[in-house]
Amino acid sequence: MYRYDQYDHLIVRERIAQYRGQVERRLNDELTEAEFLPLRLQNGLYMQRHAYMLRIAVPYGLLSSSQMRMFGHIARKYDRGYGHFTTRQNIQFNWIELEQTPDILADLASVEMHAIQTSGNCIRNITADEYAGVALDEIIDPRPYAEVLRQWSTFHPEFAALPRKFKVAINGAVEDRAAIAVHDIGLTVVHNDEGEIGFKVMVGGGMGRTPILGSVVREFLPWRHMLTYIEAVMRVYNSYGRRDNKYKARIKILVKAMGVEEFTRQVEEEWVDLKDSASTLTDEEMARVAAYFTPPAYETLPNIDVRAEHADNKAFGNWLTRNVKAHKVPGYSVVLLSLKKTGVPPGDATATQIDFVADLADRYSFGELRVTHEQNLVLADVKQSALFALWQEAKAHGLATPNIGLLTDIICCPGGDFCSLANAKSIPIAAAIAERFDDIDYQHDIGEIELNISGCINACGHHHVGSIGVLGVDKDGSEWYQVSIGGAQGNNAAIGKIIGPSFSALQMPEVVDRLLQVYVRERHEDERFVDTAQRLGIAPFKEHVYATPIKAGQLVGEDHYA
Ligand code: HEM
Ligand code: SF4
Repeated sequence: MYRYDQYDHLIVRERIAQYRGQVERRLNDELTEAEFLPLRLQNGLYMQRHAYMLRIAVPYGLLSSSQMRMFGHIARKYDRGYGHFTTRQNIQFNWIELEQTPDILADLASVEMHAIQTSGNCIRNITADEYAGVALDEIIDPRPYAEVLRQWSTFHPEFAALPRKFKVAINGAVEDRAAIAVHDIGLTVVHNDEGEIGFKVMVGGGMGRTPILGSVVREFLPWRHMLTYIEAVMRVYNSYGRRDNKYKARIKILVKAMGVEEFTRQVEEEWVDLKDSASTLTDEEMARVAAYFTPPAYETLPNIDVRAEHADNKAFGNWLTRNVKAHKVPGYSVVLLSLKKTGVPPGDATATQIDFVADLADRYSFGELRVTHEQNLVLADVKQSALFALWQEAKAHGLATPNIGLLTDIICCPGGDFCSLANAKSIPIAAAIAERFDDIDYQHDIGEIELNISGCINACGHHHVGSIGVLGVDKDGSEWYQVSIGGAQGNNAAIGKIIGPSFSALQMPEVVDRLLQVYVRERHEDERFVDTAQRLGIAPFKEHVYATPIKAGQLVGEDHYA
């Protein structure tokens, strides 16, 4: 895991000192709110519906137990006892007092964390596969590359004022678990015919108002040129990206407007001067950074058939099926701790849970854990012999719901409960759907399905790439929900298609039920919802959903945060 050196410590400390002064000046009215706004945003502090919200970067989702414990401390001391893990592998705190933010940042710095570049028109947190370093299908560990990118992009003066925010994801495995197709730049590690390591480079993906999947601009980029090539991409974007219209400012719009061939031509032309320049990566530099990501002290262990040992325990069996993944080292497993228990907003963890998970990481997983872009947590290195004990402990803390990848593993943005940009609430919709489909046997029967909810067009909840996507819309001042199906993330990424007119909040669980009825009726054996939806198109789903009026259901979790 990456550790700060003296320069990192110095930079972060100096930034906090500057920011402390800025907060003081704001509190004394020496700075107006308009003057203060960019200063606070540069430190991850947003103003939301009820309070300030602080977004903290978790680089490529990797955390030490002491960093996690610090989140627990912040949740308890400065917030209302919980934090919200996001799809960008960050954490957000929703009830922050301005006066306290310099102290929070100082506390974070003590565990080598900060909130720099979690907002603004710059390169944001670099995200990666949550199973990096342990995945069975990994070609190469993407974390050293993500770390190089992070160091390069943090405070890069040329890219501090881009036309719009910029998101990069990197995937080192065969299966794409980093949603690279919906990023401004998505890198996938590949081998060329000579067996050399490099990247397939995708540019111009993103969701929001205009969802677009990234286009491949280079099939193979030798790893040494990662920074110079990205620099060329960023330069073209910086030169030609639209600054006159916020909604057309993302690189996806530029790539679309230019055409991918012309865009690529410009990038390659820009690259002529940059290639082999000082930012070319050397073996020494990669070895230096890779040294921070050496494997932990694995023991030599046999693989155990844990399922057979507990064949009579169905609940444990369900958990093994959904929440435990194969590990590349024999005798170890990857464990997902679900933050999607029914009745809890997706991605939320209480201070007690956060401390508990830190403790689990120390006892079961070499003191490390990860945040997934689906808003769950991962213990990457658990001995198979410890799975049963771990399950019992996690269960007691509400973190062992066996629903990873299933219907109630909902991605959900904070929506109207917190977010000032929201058109509609999203957490109560997630709550109502989770409640309606709480039966785990039914969920296991439905199989893998991605239900994603956003409270507005910005698509923080990834609704475009949900098998079922729910988007909150405003119609004449009231909250409605538009439904799309057939979206997918990963290797076969696709944007979902809207099935028709929107629904009221109270109709939503029934809408989902009707969609599932069509799926159950039409599915081929072992076919996932998304595949059935893509095979059949929206017509049969649309017909069934709108066939008869939908009765409004019960209010669930409404005004939980009022
Ligand atoms: C409440 C605070 C939040 C605010 C004010 C906010 C704001 C925004 C805005 C304005 C956009 C659109 C940017 C654009 O397309 O140019 C956006 C996109 C996005 N946000 Fe948030 N967001 C918030 C919370 C979250 C949370 C909690 C998550 C994760 C659960 C998240 C994940 C994302 C993602 C993944 C996108 C990307 C869409 C894309 O690539 O086009 N955001 N957000
Ligand atoms: S999708 Fe909209 S409502 Fe939800 S967090 Fe993002 S900006 Fe806010």
